[in-house]
Amino acid sequence: IPVDEFDLVIFGGTGDLARRKILPALFRRFCAGQMEGKSRIIGAARSDHSTQEFRDFVTESIREFNGGTHCEDGTLESFLTHIDYVQIDALGTDGWAELAEKVEEKRIRAFYFSVAPSLFGALAERLHEHGMADSDTRIVVEKPFGRDLASAKVLNAGLAQHFDESQIYRIDHYLGKETVQNLMAVRFGNMLFEPLWNSQYIDHIQITVSETVGVGGRGEYYDKSGAMRDMVQNHLMQLLCLIAMEPPAKFDPAAVRDEKLKVIRALDPVPQDDLVRGQYLADGPEKESYLQDVGDTSSLTESYIAMKVKISNWRWAGTPFYMRTGKRLKARTSEIAVVFKETPHSIFGPESGNHRNILTIRLQPNEGMELGVTIKEPGPGGMRLVDVPLDMTFADALGPDAEDVPDAYERLIMDVIRGNQTLFMRGDEVEAAWAWADPMIEGWEDRGDKPKTYESGSTGPEEALMLMHRDGRRWREIR
Ligand code: BG6
Repeated sequence: IPVDEFDLVIFGGTGDLARRKILPALFRRFCAGQMEGKSRIIGAARSDHSTQEFRDFVTESIREFNGGTHCEDGTLESFLTHIDYVQIDALGTDGWAELAEKVEEKRIRAFYFSVAPSLFGALAERLHEHGMADSDTRIVVEKPFGRDLASAKVLNAGLAQHFDESQIYRIDHYLGKETVQNLMAVRFGNMLFEPLWNSQYIDHIQITVSETVGVGGRGEYYDKSGAMRDMVQNHLMQLLCLIAMEPPAKFDPAAVRDEKLKVIRALDPVPQDDLVRGQYLADGPEKESYLQDVGDTSSLTESYIAMKVKISNWRWAGTPFYMRTGKRLKARTSEIAVVFKETPHSIFGPESGNHRNILTIRLQPNEGMELGVTIKEPGPGGMRLVDVPLDMTFADALGPDAEDVPDAYERLIMDVIRGNQTLFMRGDEVEAAWAWADPMIEGWEDRGDKPKTYESGSTGPEEALMLMHRDGRRWREIR
C-alpha cells in the first residue's frame, strides 16, 4: 500500500548507516511501489556535494547493499529523481535556509538524525529556528540513545524542547525484524501459548544473539560501549520485554509501550555473580583479538556478556531469563528459547527419561519457530519417548512471500511515514532500561573487573557455562 507523499531528510546522509541501511531500504520500498508521487529524500551532510554526486553515492550504496532485490529496469533512474542534497552545518547557520526552502510544502516531513547523539539537541533547535518543527514533522533517532541514564535524559530533554513525544521515533532495528513481530502474533494470536506463559509452566527462557563478526572497523565506538551498551540495553531488552509483557489491550503504541515499560521496571538488579563478561582472543594472524582490534591492550570493555535476569512480578517470579550476546562466536544465530517445565509425573517410569517442551523462536538465520514435543519412538520396542521438532520455517510454510519480507529498516522507515510508533522506543522506556543497566556497568567499572577471555569461534567464556550449570541447566547449542 503506497504511503502518503513525504519529504525525508537524512542528516548524516553520506554516512555509513545511510549507505548500508537507510538508502537501500528506501530503494526497496520504492521498488515495491510504496513510495509514490513527489516524495523526496534529501541527504544533508557537512561535505560539499552536488545533487548529482549524492545521487552517485546513492547508486553505489544500492549496488552494494541492495541485497539482490530485483527491480524493473529503469527503477533506479526513476528513484534517483527523488533524491536531493543539501550541504549543512549542524552547529552553524550554513545550509538551513536552503533546506527550509526545499521542505516548504505542507506534507509529512521526517528528519532522520543519522549523526552522533551529541548533535541531536542542536539539530532539533535548528529545525525549530527555521520553521521546520511543526506538527507534521517527525524526528527519527538511532541508538546509541545515550550511554547512561543521565545522558539519555539530556537527549530526551533536548528533543522535548521542540518536539512532542508523539513526533519522536527512536529506532531499535530489532523491533523491525519480522520474527520479533511474530513473537507478538504467536503470543497474542493463539490460544495455545498464553495460558502456559508464566512461571508455573515455564522453567526458564534463553535469549541468544550470537555474532561471528568482530568489532572490525568500529573499534573506536565499540570500545566505549561494549556488549552491554551496544546490544543488551536495547536489542536484548526489547526481546525480553516482548516475551515477558502482559497482553496489551490493543496493538497500538501507547498500550504496547506501557506494557514493555512495566517489564523493565520489574527487573531486579543483576548481582555480580549472575554476570559474565568476556573478550575474544585472536584466531590466527588474520583475525586479531579484541584488544588488537580496538588498539588498546588495557581495555576492559566486553565483547561478550551473559547474565541471569529476574523479573519480580506475579507472572515471572521464579522463572529466570538467561541472556547472552557476543562477537566472534561460533555462528550467527539469534534465538529465543522458551523452555517449559517437565511433566509433574511420568507415567512411563524413570527409564523413559526427562523430556520437556521447548519453543524456539529463530530471529536469524532461517526465521521461524520450532516446538519440541515428546512422542513415542516408532517401533515395537515398548514405550520409549523421543523429542521431535514441529518445525515452522517461515520460508517453507509461507513460500516466496516469506522470503520477500521487508528488512527491519524498510518497515520502520515506512512506519515513520505512516505515523505508527508501535515499534519504536518511547523516552521513558529507554530511560528505564538505562536505570537498570547503569548500576551493573558502574559496578564493574568501579571494581575494574577484567573480562574473561574466550576463543574466537567458540560459544563464549567457560564461566558463562557455569552460570547455567550451577542452576542445573544448560545453554542451547549455538549452531
Ligand atoms: C547493532 C550493533 O545495533 O546491531 C552491532 O551496534 C550489531 O554491534 C548489530 O552487530 C546486530 O544487528 P543484526 O541485525 O545484524 O543482528
